[in-house]
Amino acid sequence: MKIFIDTANLNEIKEANDMGLLDGVTTNPSLVAKEGYKDFKDLLTKICSIVKGDVSAEVLSTDCDGIVKEARELVKIADNIVIKVPLIKEGLKAVKILSSENIKTNVTLCFSPSQAVLAAKAGAYIISPFVGRLDDISYNGMELIDKITRIYSIYGFTTQVLVASVRHPMHFVEACEMGADICTMPFKVINQLVKHPLTDIGLENFLKDWNKLQNS
Ligand code: G3P
Repeated sequence: MKIFIDTANLNEIKEANDMGLLDGVTTNPSLVAKEGYKDFKDLLTKICSIVKGDVSAEVLSTDCDGIVKEARELVKIADNIVIKVPLIKEGLKAVKILSSENIKTNVTLCFSPSQAVLAAKAGAYIISPFVGRLDDISYNGMELIDKITRIYSIYGFTTQVLVASVRHPMHFVEACEMGADICTMPFKVINQLVKHPLTDIGLENFLKDWNKLQNS
């Protein structure tokens, strides 16, 4: 299971990377806008200098030619850039072309198993089903991950399943149980994965007992 951080905040990326467990970064236009960065290429250069693994950079074009053109420019930034392409007809056409040029793609905004199959057939390097946004509309987002991982394994698709729109640690645990390849999470969720109240209480008691012994 690879762990990615879903943010455009450089401090969060540095801190998660220092924890020694970060395998990559996903960004999207909303996350970049939240941080107020206008120079997207400069931001990506900075992220790629911190993290060695895959860094997803989303295109803004919605037509095949525009997506391909943007992708060819973005991959010049660093070797670990992966092009995030929306799961629309024009996006799939672009993924086919980009994969023939060995440009890695992360097909995003996936909400159904049929979309995931088409992305894999087009040659996507990563598929990003959004689980939290499905939960938001009363559909169990993790059911989608279960279906995609099963279908991909039946046909031997090599496209990696990246669980996106993760809102809490149970999404991560279920993603692990289902054999998803990657889970991208906000910094807050990565921190929640570490925390356990019994660990904190246990540690506090160990130190208290140790100090008692020293002062006896
Ligand atoms: O990066 C895409 C995805 O993770 C966004 O999550 O919380 O905006 O649905 P969210």
